[in-house]
Amino acid sequence: MKIRFLFLHLKKIIKETKRSMSSEPLFTEIHSLCQQQPTIKCQNRKFLAGSTSKDFPETLPKFVHHDFKAIKITHKHRCQDIKRLGVAMRPALDSMFKAKKSAVLIKGLPISVGKDFHDFVEGCAYKAMTYESGSGFRAAVDDLVYTASDEPPPFSIEPHNEMSYLSKFPQKIIFCCLSTADKGGESPIVFNRDLIKKIKPEVLNKFRAKGIRYSRNLKHRKNTDYISWQSTFYTEEEKEAEKKMSKEGFQWEWKANGDVTIWYQQPAFYELANSGEEVWFNQMTANHCSYYKSHPMFADRAEDLPAHEYPYHCCYGDGEEIENDVMDHIRSVAWKNAMSLTLLPGDVLILDNLLCQHSRIGYEGGDRRILVFLGEHTNR
Ligand SMILES: [Fe+2]
Repeated sequence: MKIRFLFLHLKKIIKETKRSMSSEPLFTEIHSLCQQQPTIKCQNRKFLAGSTSKDFPETLPKFVHHDFKAIKITHKHRCQDIKRLGVAMRPALDSMFKAKKSAVLIKGLPISVGKDFHDFVEGCAYKAMTYESGSGFRAAVDDLVYTASDEPPPFSIEPHNEMSYLSKFPQKIIFCCLSTADKGGESPIVFNRDLIKKIKPEVLNKFRAKGIRYSRNLKHRKNTDYISWQSTFYTEEEKEAEKKMSKEGFQWEWKANGDVTIWYQQPAFYELANSGEEVWFNQMTANHCSYYKSHPMFADRAEDLPAHEYPYHCCYGDGEEIENDVMDHIRSVAWKNAMSLTLLPGDVLILDNLLCQHSRIGYEGGDRRILVFLGEHTNR
């Protein structure tokens, strides 16, 4: 009798829990994010390209952009299996991006280790892509997830759209914070629609007419601890690397020491498939030699190297160097329109990579760990 009573009581509790879970919304919107952002010094910041130019913003703006949305998973849903939460979130995310949001921050997910993030993106079921041919310094964590960046901590990474310098790139990029730095390490975002309105029309027109010529100076693995052609093309074989370079439309020249020089052209803009809208979509700042002149590996040299000796460089499509004032102008416009954003442990940030750029402020101390997933690839 007593056992039967306990069984019925337990059944009632399970039923009530299920009812309250289904009646509780999956998430609520957060409106107070901008008060939580610290003041981030930009002007004359060491290891930040262009920060000494006269138009560079003194500090990063604090505002919440209308194309950004922050949400928090409600308490009762946090105990759900993380993969199931990904499955449950996907339709809501699709609706948000359809309703013209370009960046969605999710707080309150039960994520504490890389495997949790892996399971969440697996649940979301965005089609994964690899980072093959990418120019960043990062490592694979598992079959879906990479480190966001392994660049030296004090280096500030300029706003950019992921892989926008290639013919194949992700439409969605998802970041997850596992741990923060003691100081700095914020993740500001910039909306491409703002850039095309704020960059001078004559500058846009010149890039429209000429496009961009990217070049790379990729070292053999034996010659560097940094990015090598082997880590870029996921192969140890020159012939295999050549196949991949050829597929990308690259031209190349091997050097006697095993390094390789690569060059190719890409447009500076991308036309959105559904609307035909033109978007500023390139990596003319973070792939320019001046970016590397501000990099801890090169910044303290007594003399600058020739442009082609840095890991990457770019110029106009006809070979003309991009003017210094144009580089300064585009950098200051980007940082003046950057929305300050601090990711905390467990936070997941999903960006429409065609419409929203991401960046990183240099940092000190702590064990900052941010992971990334690249998804839904498309081609030019
Ligand atoms: Fe990136």
